Amino acid sequence: MDKSEVIESLRSLHYLSKAINSTLDIDTVVEEVLSKTSSLMGSKEVIILLLESDKTVLTLHSYLLPGAEEPQVKRFDKVKSFDHCLVHKGTVINLSEIVPEDDYCRYLEKMPMLANMVFAPLEIKGEPYGLIGVLNGKKNFSVIELEIFCSLGSQAAIAIENANLYKSLKGSFLHTAEALAEAISSRDPYTGGHIRRVKKYCEKIASALEMDVEEREDLRLASTLHDIGKIGVEDAILRKKGVLSVEEEIAMRKHPEIGARILGHIEEMRGVMLGVLCHHERFDGLGYPAGLKGVDIPLFARIISIADTFDTITTKRPYKEAIDRVEAISEIVKNSGTQFDPSLVKVFCEAMTEVEEGISN
Ligand SMILES: [Fe+2]
Ligand SMILES: [Fe+2]
Repeated sequence: MDKSEVIESLRSLHYLSKAINSTLDIDTVVEEVLSKTSSLMGSKEVIILLLESDKTVLTLHSYLLPGAEEPQVKRFDKVKSFDHCLVHKGTVINLSEIVPEDDYCRYLEKMPMLANMVFAPLEIKGEPYGLIGVLNGKKNFSVIELEIFCSLGSQAAIAIENANLYKSLKGSFLHTAEALAEAISSRDPYTGGHIRRVKKYCEKIASALEMDVEEREDLRLASTLHDIGKIGVEDAILRKKGVLSVEEEIAMRKHPEIGARILGHIEEMRGVMLGVLCHHERFDGLGYPAGLKGVDIPLFARIISIADTFDTITTKRPYKEAIDRVEAISEIVKNSGTQFDPSLVKVFCEAMTEVEEGISN
């Protein structure tokens, strides 16, 4: 490895460090780690194995194996302990050193390439977390290359762990938000399960629109929280069995703004907040609170509006009977272009028709 290669490697390593720490999306992190390891170590094949909690089992987490079939070995049992000292001593880990001999032979039968793979430990605060492996070809790695390999391992481990922690944190946040939203909507005894169903219909539209992961998560949150502002509406109005009076209707119509005010305190939730604020706007501009028209209404709100209405008309209320889903779809179509965004009505109807067909098949 000459000087320019060292500089190039360090530059790539620095770039990798920035890239993997700039996102908390686990798939993006893993993709970056695999591709940068591949280019830094000059190996098209890269695999990441993570230790199970008892530290004796390694499972395949992700891989880059161009042209190859799916890896035939996904789990390595009875793994002996390994540490980073190996790499600092100028060596790498071979699988044969850390798994029982018989098992090793079995693994090679299924996946011969493992014989030529070398591994660096993934570590967090000196604790083993897994291994990252590359195909060695025939060359011997220099000490600098091994140091870089090892450093990649540490960075990769931290990035993966951070992304995992963030994912579970986000998951528990979403659960809390759902529990909160259901608790609020359950004050209205006639809308049990409304939030869950609206969220489900929104997810169908999100899939049909091929939204990316982040957008989909925000829409899920917006649909979950769309009626959170009902927390500020009196029980007597929420629970009223008959049709609301004009004053009561005015009070009820405040819930999108109350919801938006609650969420407005969280800057990162601006997209979600707009979805909540505008879910009773109408495509023809006759909705509330602002009377926005057409695509001036944020996309999340236009989607929630369809899902919300569909659930309301397919659910029995004290003052009205539920109508069946087919009839409800034609009701939505009837209001396409006036109440709803026509392009989204089309997407929704197609998605719902697929579901109906799926059920009847
Ligand atoms: Fe609402
Ligand atoms: Fe609603």
